[in-house]
Parts: sequence; C-alpha cells; structure tokens
Amino acid sequence: MAAQVQLPAVPRSVGSFRHDLDLSISELLGLLDLTQQVKQSRQRFARALEGLYLALLFEKPSLRTRMTFELAIKQLGGDCVVQSGMVGEREPIKDIARNLARWTDCIVARTYAQETVDELAQWSAIPVVNALTDLYHPCQALADMFTLREHFGRLRGLKLAYVGDGNNVAHSLLLCGARLGMHCTVATPAAYGPRPEIVEAACELSDETGGSIQVTTDAFEAVQQANAVYTDVWASMGQEDEAELREQIFAPYQVNEALLAQARPDAAFMHCLPAKRGLEVTDAVLESGQSIVFEQAENRLHAQKALLLTLLQ
Ligand code: CP
Ligand code: NVA
Repeated sequence: MAAQVQLPAVPRSVGSFRHDLDLSISELLGLLDLTQQVKQSRQRFARALEGLYLALLFEKPSLRTRMTFELAIKQLGGDCVVQSGMVGEREPIKDIARNLARWTDCIVARTYAQETVDELAQWSAIPVVNALTDLYHPCQALADMFTLREHFGRLRGLKLAYVGDGNNVAHSLLLCGARLGMHCTVATPAAYGPRPEIVEAACELSDETGGSIQVTTDAFEAVQQANAVYTDVWASMGQEDEAELREQIFAPYQVNEALLAQARPDAAFMHCLPAKRGLEVTDAVLESGQSIVFEQAENRLHAQKALLLTLLQ
C-alpha cells in the first residue's frame, strides 16, 4: 500500500520548486512566456546568473535533466557542481541542506523520496528545485506545457491523454494541465492509477480553470478526440524488479499506431524519454511525424532556464 501523499495545505514554499503547485497560475504563465523569450534570444540572458553557483544532486541516472540543467546554468553565466549518490546516507539531510546553503545559491535535486526534496527545502535558506522524485517530475511538465503551447498555439481546452503508469510524470501533468485549463485523461491498469490525493487536487484546480480530469482503465476511450497522447515507461527508476510483471499487465496500454489513430488526426505523440521501444510505445509511433518528443527534450533546456531566472533573479 502506497504511503499517503501530504499535499501541503498552503501549497507554496517561497523560492522553491518542490512540486508543480509551488508556482501560482500567474507565475506558471509568466514562466511559459519567459521560456519563449530565452528560447528566442540566448545572448540576451547570457550573464543573468553571473556569480551564482548551483549544487546538483542526483540519486538516480539522468541524461536530459542533468545535461539541460548544467547547460542552462552555464549558458546563463552561472556555474554548478554535481554530486551523484544517495542524499542523507552519510549525514542528515538537514545538515546537507545547511552546508550547501553556505556555499551555493540553489539546490537542484533528483531523489527517490519526495520527502528528501521537501526536507532540503525546509532546511536550506536557498531555493530547492525538484529534478524528479518518485512522486513528481515538475520540470518535465513545465517543458511539456511549453511544447504543447508552441505546437498548438494554446493550452486552455486542449485534451491531453496520458496512457500507461500513473507515475511521477502523470502526477505533474495532471497538476499542471489542470492549472492551465486543459482536459486531462489518464488511462492506467486498475492498480496503477495516479495517487487519489493528486487526482483530487487536480480536480479541484480544474473546477477553477474550466479544465477537466478523468481517470479510467480504458486506453481506447481515453484517447478519443485527444490533441496529444502521452506515455512514459511502465517501470520507473527504482521499480526495475517489477519490470517483467509490469510488461504483462501494461501490454494493453501500448501506444501504437492503432491507438494513436483513435485520437484526433493531428494529435501529437509525447514521451518524456527515455523510452522503451516495443513496450509503452512502438518504434513507428515514436519515429512518426506526429511525435514531438525531441521538441519536448529541447524545451527542457529553455524551460529550466526560465525557471532558474524566476527563482534566482
Ligand atoms: N525526461 C527526463 O527527465 O530524462 P532524464 O531521466 O534523462 O533526465
Ligand atoms: N517515470 C520515469 C521518468 C523518467 C524521466 C522514472 O521515474 O523513471
């Protein structure tokens, strides 16, 4: 049984980005506009983080997140130090947080437990950025929302169908999509749905923004009329032992040409990557003209630059 998720009553931590709700709607919209500006003009922001140093902590592997954070920081004129390994094994997280706050200006952390990011934020006097936890992947969702807006020219009213595991990526898409007035549908096997507390929070946000949230076990139904079909790996980092079992359970949730054909004819295919071709998505779909996965990957760089500018300037 999964542990209860504590969604904070006041979902803001001044200066940190622990999860999607740490940005208000207006901050989120401002960040999407700023992403557009940094994408258009790298030179204009080339000295924006001059003299600032960031600590990057990685408990899990990464290509996109690590590269795009390092590049974002350097292209903005700042610098960073990177450490791989478990956070909090050698000394308490609260001590790590207070050490890093004496030397650096921001902590970017990819951890297993969301509580690790929360505790770093609680104890450090500098902003903490969630670079993926078991519960959320908010930097991914920022880039994805920007990519969707870039592709379709709008976000409000778009239907995003997420098919597969109700995981960290699904949680962040639900919260961000709801905040931006999108219609989000998630189709997963019965025991692998998104956390009920997060679905509930997304439903409440949707009521305010005119969006909607639907959770189902029917992938075919979920993708009807979708503007975008999104999937992610069936076994996330840390779930390697379950991979074989999950391959059987999730087989009906593969995004293949037949499933994608149920969405709108101009539907975009999305994936945060890395992808397991032949499992959650076929090679044909990933390589098709409908796939915008490399636009998503590119926009990680631009969205994270905008995030760092928002938190550190
Ligand atoms: N999408 C994503 O976060 O990729 P990495 O795990 O390579 O950082
Ligand atoms: N859900 C995946 C995302 C990887 C970017 C994982 O956590 O492994």
